[in-house]
Amino acid sequence: MPEKHVGPKDRSTVRSLLRLWPYVKPVRGRLFSAAVVAVVASCVGLVIPLVLKWMVDGPVADRDPGGVWLGALYLLLLGLAEAVLFGLRRWLVARPMAGVEAAMRADLYRHLQRLPVAFHDRWPSGQLLSRATTDLMLLRMFLAFPLIFLLVNGTTILVGFVILLMQQWTLGLVLLTPVVPLVIVCALFETKYSAVARRAQDQVGDLTTVVEESVLGIRIIKGFGRHRSQARAFRALSERLRETELGKARLLAGIWAVITTVPELAIGAALVLGTIQVADGGLSAGTLVAFLSTALALRWPIESIGFLLAMSQESATATERYFEVMDVAEERDDLSEPTGPAEATGPTEPTRTAGAAGATRTAGAADEARTTGAADGVPADGPTDGREGMVFEGVEFRYPDADPRSAPVLSRIDLSIRPGETMALVGATGSGKTTLTALVPRLYEATAGRITLDGRDIAAMSRQELRGLVSVAFEEPTLFSATVGENVLMGADGAGQDELRRALAIAQADFVHDLPDGIGTQVGEQGLSLSGGQRQRLALARAVVGRPRFLVLDDPLSALDVHTEALVEAALRQVLEETTAIVVAHRPSTVMLADRVALLSEGRIVAVGTHQELLRGNAEYARLMSGDGDDAEQDSFPDPSIDGRLVPDVAAEKGRTR
Ligand SMILES: Nc1ncnc2c1ncn2[C@@H]1O[C@H](COP(=O)(O)OP(=O)(O)O)[C@@H](O)[C@H]1O
Ligand SMILES: [Mg+2]
Repeated sequence: MPEKHVGPKDRSTVRSLLRLWPYVKPVRGRLFSAAVVAVVASCVGLVIPLVLKWMVDGPVADRDPGGVWLGALYLLLLGLAEAVLFGLRRWLVARPMAGVEAAMRADLYRHLQRLPVAFHDRWPSGQLLSRATTDLMLLRMFLAFPLIFLLVNGTTILVGFVILLMQQWTLGLVLLTPVVPLVIVCALFETKYSAVARRAQDQVGDLTTVVEESVLGIRIIKGFGRHRSQARAFRALSERLRETELGKARLLAGIWAVITTVPELAIGAALVLGTIQVADGGLSAGTLVAFLSTALALRWPIESIGFLLAMSQESATATERYFEVMDVAEERDDLSEPTGPAEATGPTEPTRTAGAAGATRTAGAADEARTTGAADGVPADGPTDGREGMVFEGVEFRYPDADPRSAPVLSRIDLSIRPGETMALVGATGSGKTTLTALVPRLYEATAGRITLDGRDIAAMSRQELRGLVSVAFEEPTLFSATVGENVLMGADGAGQDELRRALAIAQADFVHDLPDGIGTQVGEQGLSLSGGQRQRLALARAVVGRPRFLVLDDPLSALDVHTEALVEAALRQVLEETTAIVVAHRPSTVMLADRVALLSEGRIVAVGTHQELLRGNAEYARLMSGDGDDAEQDSFPDPSIDGRLVPDVAAEKGRTR
């Protein structure tokens, strides 16, 4: 779990909220005018008691009906002015605040896209979702309302008390006595409330995760009759959230009670004292009326302080939660800066710069090698200098969240794939095949060693360039809610209809033409309206549509029937001739596509050779290929979520590699 529970000691509400400034800055003019308008409106409200005083001591005392009517007219005008000004404030803030919210959300989304895969491995998606929705909504409300009203009500209270003291300072002092206890109570409240608010918002995130997971995994839940236990788990979480919310409500009720009662008592005392003074003749009736109406007019600003503080607390928490994500360093292409991304690293985000630093030094040399040497069109079995094609040199990898004492997932990987060659990667489940393929497009950074493509270190390329060179298709064929065509064309910038048709043909995905709208058919969320094999073929089409120089396929044909697989393989053969490819394979038929095979065992390449050589010379390989190894099951259950039949450890693995 990420750094979720920040203790109250290392946070300050104001400091947290100040971080919003960059987003608020563009609309500061509007926000400021809105505040001024609201202050004026509020002070107009304070003039009303003064008119009352004038009426009571003047026309009312003199029994002058004309004067009373005039006073009533003044009051009406003042009331109207107050209403119009408050309306104006609303109008001033609505649009800019919606803009701030949208900008913050867009930034968050953009940032999430650029965060390393390792970040998403660690953070539950519900935590991210809730930050992008609930927390940002809280912030918008805060900027539009409590922020302005803390200022407005503060000013109103100040001005009000000046008026009170000027009218009758002894009575004013009576009203001022509750200030000290109120400030103390508010401070206590703030500390407590901030902790509860944080807990509640984190729990909303946990709840969102459960909802999201069970919606995505609905087939498994139903297939195993797990809806009851799932509902129980959900209820437990929402019960927990309910408790927290009740705790919040109790705190709010407490402070609300104190903030309303204490001033009422003070007003009561002032009323008694004032009446005595009027009776003694030391005070005019009009002054007492004005005094009390002013005091009553201040009731709302004072009472509102409680929930304004509560809302500010929640917003401070929301800001923290927002910036916890925003502060995690993005993947960056620090090609000119050998020190790597140093700043803006979140507390739990480990900075790994070792690979990048070494890489930068070699970049220039590698580029030269590429331009001077024969870069393109080296025949598959022609002699190369060992720098062309895809080369792994002493690559080691450990997952960022792995125990540092544990053995690395991959170690001392030395593998050279010649230009145009196809290398099959074979190994038992968990041997590290998927991990190895993920290093090529730099979804994870190798912890040591380097990978070169045509002699260029991938760590020295920008990710964009690298991902333009390399195409991937993973075990889990992920599709998006878009049309079939759009899903495939994601694989290449600017590919046209011809390319699309060609890619679909290679992947034997002609079934798309029988779909209701052909390639314009929408596939549902995650493509679940298609069969596993259909999704795999679309994912394969996406991998080949851009005619990539380098192709990385992680067991791309596992869900296909033998007949379709043979057809795909026949078509894929042409593509593979033009590209340098690494293909994870479980079945002999897929291995046949490759020129050579590398056998991965417990994170090490233990043998490289042709299929026949390894079959004869390597017992482990022979066992894996004969189908009676422990991996054999995986072939018959290519995608547990589709079949509804489940091999527990395969399911666990699918869940994790999602
Ligand atoms: N995101 C991850 N975080 C931590 N460990 C992982 C992660 N993905 C895989 N592993 C671990 O790395 C090892 C190799 O996994 P993987 O490369 O998926 O194997 P294969 O594809 O050969 O079945 C496994 O022991 C697995 O538990
Ligand atoms: Mg795998």
